[in-house]
Amino acid sequence: MKKQQLTIALSKGRILEETLPLLEAANIMPAENIFKSRKLIFDTNHDNIKFVVIRATDVPTYVEYGGADMGIAGKDVLMEHGGKGLYEPLDLEIAKCKLMVAGLTGAPPVEGRMRIATKFVNIAKQYFAQQGCQVDIVKLYGAMELAPIMGLADRIVDIVDTGNTLRANGLEPMDFIANISSRLVVGQPALKMKHRQIQPIIDMMSEAVVKRR
Ligand code: ADP
Ligand code: PRP
Ligand code: MG
Repeated sequence: MKKQQLTIALSKGRILEETLPLLEAANIMPAENIFKSRKLIFDTNHDNIKFVVIRATDVPTYVEYGGADMGIAGKDVLMEHGGKGLYEPLDLEIAKCKLMVAGLTGAPPVEGRMRIATKFVNIAKQYFAQQGCQVDIVKLYGAMELAPIMGLADRIVDIVDTGNTLRANGLEPMDFIANISSRLVVGQPALKMKHRQIQPIIDMMSEAVVKRR
C-alpha cells in the first residue's frame, strides 16, 4: 500500500531543539539543518513526511484545520487554543514550566476589579472566573513582566520556570494556574485516516520520553 503524506508542525523557538531528538528516536530527521535555514517546510529522511516550522501559537491552528496532521506545542498554547479538534496522545516532558499569576513583590491584594496583562487571554479569563474574581484583561504579546511596573496592570499571567525574569523585574509568583510541558497533538482527520502510520511514531516517541527520564 502506498504511504500517505504526513505533515508535522513544529514550534520554532525554545522547544525545537528538544523536539528533534524525540522525532529522531522515531527515525524522523530533517534533511537539512533547520536552524540554518529560512525555509518553512522541510523534507525529512522519509519521502512522505514533511516538517513545517511555525510560531508556537500557530501549531494548534494548523493541526485543527488539517494544514498539518500532527504537531508539537506547549500545553499553555494548547490550553489557550482550547484544544478543539485536537487529540493529545503524548506528554513529551520537555520545556517544563508553570503558568502563574504574578505581581510586584509585596503588592497588597487589589480592591475591586483587577487588571490582568497577559498573552493568555482565554486561560486568564477562565482561571479568574473559576476563582470568582472580576477582572479586566489587557492582551500583550510578550514582556508581560513590564506591565505591573509601568502601571498597566495589577497582575500578569505568564510562564514561570526559574523565576529569574520575575525576580529581575521586582515581581513575585502569587498563584499557581497549571503545570506546563510540551505535547504531541494529532488532528481529528489524521487520527481517522492516517492512524496506522501515526501510531508507530507515537509509540517510538513515547519510548524516547521514558528513556529520557
Ligand atoms: P513564544 O515565542 O510563543 O513565547 P517560546 O519558544 O518562547 O514561544 O516558547 C514555546 C513554549 O515553551 C511555550 O509555549 C511554553 O510551553 C514553553 N516555555 C516558554 N517559556 C519557557 C521557559 N522559560 N522555560 C521552559 N519552558 C518555557
Ligand atoms: C518566557 C516567559 C517568561 C520567562 C520565564 O519568556 O514568558 O518571561 O520565559 O522563565 P524564567 O522563570 O526561567 O525566567 P521568553 O524568554 O520565552 O520570552 P518571550 O516573551 O519572547 O516569550
Ligand atoms: Mg517565549
